[in-house]
Amino acid sequence: MVDKKPWSGRFNQPTDKLVEEFTASIKFDKRLYRYDIEGSIAHCKMLAMQGLISPEEEKEIVSGLEGILGDIEAGEFDYSPDLEDIHMAVEKALIDRVGKAGEKLHTGRSRNDQVSLDMRLYLRDEVEGILDLVGVLKSSILRVAKNEINTILPGYTHLQKAQPILLSHYLLAYREMLHRDEDRLKECYDRINIMSLGSAALAGTSLPIDREYVAELLKFPKIAENSMDAVSDRDFVAELIFDASLLMMHMSRFCEDLIIWSSGEFGFVEISDSFTTGSSIMPQKKNPDVAELIRGKTGRIYGNLVSLLTVMKGLPMSYNRDMQEDKEPLFDTVDTVKGCLHILSGMVGKLKFNRERMLEAAAGGFSTATDVADYLVMKGVPFRESHGIVGRLVGYCIEKNKELPALSIEEFRKFSPGFGEDVYKYLTAEDSVNSRSSYGGTARKIVLKRIKEIEKQAKG
Ligand code: ARG
Repeated sequence: MVDKKPWSGRFNQPTDKLVEEFTASIKFDKRLYRYDIEGSIAHCKMLAMQGLISPEEEKEIVSGLEGILGDIEAGEFDYSPDLEDIHMAVEKALIDRVGKAGEKLHTGRSRNDQVSLDMRLYLRDEVEGILDLVGVLKSSILRVAKNEINTILPGYTHLQKAQPILLSHYLLAYREMLHRDEDRLKECYDRINIMSLGSAALAGTSLPIDREYVAELLKFPKIAENSMDAVSDRDFVAELIFDASLLMMHMSRFCEDLIIWSSGEFGFVEISDSFTTGSSIMPQKKNPDVAELIRGKTGRIYGNLVSLLTVMKGLPMSYNRDMQEDKEPLFDTVDTVKGCLHILSGMVGKLKFNRERMLEAAAGGFSTATDVADYLVMKGVPFRESHGIVGRLVGYCIEKNKELPALSIEEFRKFSPGFGEDVYKYLTAEDSVNSRSSYGGTARKIVLKRIKEIEKQAKG
């Protein structure tokens, strides 16, 4: 033996320092330490239960591992790269502490199933944390939606003024997206929550292990069915990063609106001073950097997804070292998505909407043209025809530099005999919003009903 490495039995030369640095994952996988120790304690208890180690050895190993946990948490642990990864570092520390018994811990397992187990344990916690943060953002949005139930603004398609809407309706649209994100994460959690230990290197083990017992100790409802699949599966990691990508995309689009709306040209919203930054050269500026960075970081998460999918696409069965490249994109995704959720919740709660400005914008620009066309439909004019009539009417308004409510009834009638005095009831933004009372529409009573439902679901 030329080296102190656990696997160096068949080697005649020590590992090149460059290779050690190149292959080591400890600088990033050290964040798995708690899960590695938790998994090892369960594995050790199972080994004792099966008579593969003695009760004394079990005790020594468990207290050794607990001691190591204490050292790590106290910041007194050696993370040098020659220890390769967190799994070997913990095992070596254990052997240093308890000697012979420690050498028995790796019985019936491989780092291939161990790393999969650690990642699953880690992700269970992180998904719960992300779900909590999504919940906070949803509540924050709901609170603002309730507050802005009378605020009307233009709704846009193609970023062209389309029809007046309630700000609450707009906000609840984002809440729906976040709700689907939550659902997706919960489903992903079920596929994370599968116990992969006991698959060993790839083919299982000849030793009499008890996988059900390990699953029970670690609270896994299911056990991976196929040892080869278990050590080569990173679907659950890709899935989590995909779910995070959609979540980021939703936050990014919301931020994009806030960026546009906070511009002087729109002036719909003011982002609180505490969530904006200034310019080093232009004294007048207040920049929406937080919103911009959430939008920007979304790109990083997409990159992480593509990284992992690309790492996995050509791998032969089963474990390959390439798979170690799953960790940095995953950890970065988890940190980024949590950071963005947290800061966006804070920012949303402090938004100040300029209600007058929004209403003014909603009233202008012929935003009620569809209402006028619908009015003619109610008077028996076929929709295609009424669409043409109102189109010509708008053309006329543009030429005369007038808005629809400023037209006289004679002017209306020049375009269709179907117009009566009652057309003026359909021209304001308020009328327009409240007329859209179809299921899922923007009418105040429909939005209020939806808010009630959401609150009831939250309580139930
Ligand atoms: N650090 C490795 C990883 O993250 C652990 C598994 C290594 N297994 C092996 N046979 N070299 O993938």
